[in-house]
Amino acid sequence: LKILLTFSFLFSLTSCFEKLPMTTVHSVTEWGAQINELYLLTTVIVTFVFFAVAIPFCYAIWKFREKEGDTRIPEQIHGNHKLEVLWTLIPIVLLIFIFIPTVQLILSRFEEPPKDTLKIQAIAHQWWWEFKYPDLGITTANEMYVPEGKHVTIELTSADVIHSFWIPRWGGKVDNLPGETNYITYTTPAVEDAENGDYYQGHCVELCGLSHARMRYQAVVLPQERFDAWTKVAQTPPTVTTALEKKGQELFMSKTCFTCHAIEGTTAQGRVGPDLTNFGSRRMLAAGTLPNDKEGMYEWLRDSVDSKPPYQNVKPGSLMIFGEGFELTDEDIEALTAYLQNSTAKTY
Ligand code: CUA
Repeated sequence: LKILLTFSFLFSLTSCFEKLPMTTVHSVTEWGAQINELYLLTTVIVTFVFFAVAIPFCYAIWKFREKEGDTRIPEQIHGNHKLEVLWTLIPIVLLIFIFIPTVQLILSRFEEPPKDTLKIQAIAHQWWWEFKYPDLGITTANEMYVPEGKHVTIELTSADVIHSFWIPRWGGKVDNLPGETNYITYTTPAVEDAENGDYYQGHCVELCGLSHARMRYQAVVLPQERFDAWTKVAQTPPTVTTALEKKGQELFMSKTCFTCHAIEGTTAQGRVGPDLTNFGSRRMLAAGTLPNDKEGMYEWLRDSVDSKPPYQNVKPGSLMIFGEGFELTDEDIEALTAYLQNSTAKTY
């Protein structure tokens, strides 16, 4: 236990000094900063209580220890009303100091979202994230694009079991419940890397089945003009140019791919799996499990074709399985990769 505590302490220290993707102490939103202030206040109070109790306690143990040759019976005390009232009142006062700002912060989250807010629906699935922009007519997966310095209200629901939405550096954590909608409103942070956009790691934080650990997403903050450009290309059909991409497209539309996935402007309109319209522009695939490059795609498709549940290696339990007797040659995979990664990649 000691080793574990030391490790967790050292780990929390490193996250203080370094901006690790899952750190909670380097918050970039106002809400995250408010939560950290509350933690700080609580930490100061509990540290004070710890020393106020531990120091007199240690002193008493040392001062009144058994001494050699001293056989006197210590003074026998049977209660002290003044002390008892005091040590009941002090914790009550301290708890009030923690309780009031905590409730205030929680209630502030139930306020109506601002009128100018950008609405995003985050629908959790086993084990990936669907993001819809109802006012913009955009559906995407595993990457949530937002403009910098704007209000965004995220409506959280689930398509199956309970999941939970958490971007550690944005603060806050809200459950995705099936049949119910939760809301979370942020003011998005300013962009540091205007050229590439800022990527913030998000993760499902409710144990939701076999691949819960592989249910990640990215919150991507872009400068306003680039976000506007993204909204224009996010739903544009693929541009198929090379023969390899064409072959990939034919495979996609004739094999089982199209029954589960949708690509805007094509006959693929499946809604079981992630929308792949803008797939080529994403950094990761399979909900943050693999990098979205040739190797990642090969590993993902090979694993999905060759292994049957529960033997999937990349993402155990995933629905990304092909039907009986279905085969993909390495050439097929190369063509599918070319189609999905090149034809759907859009600059914005
Ligand atoms: Cu979804 Cu854990």
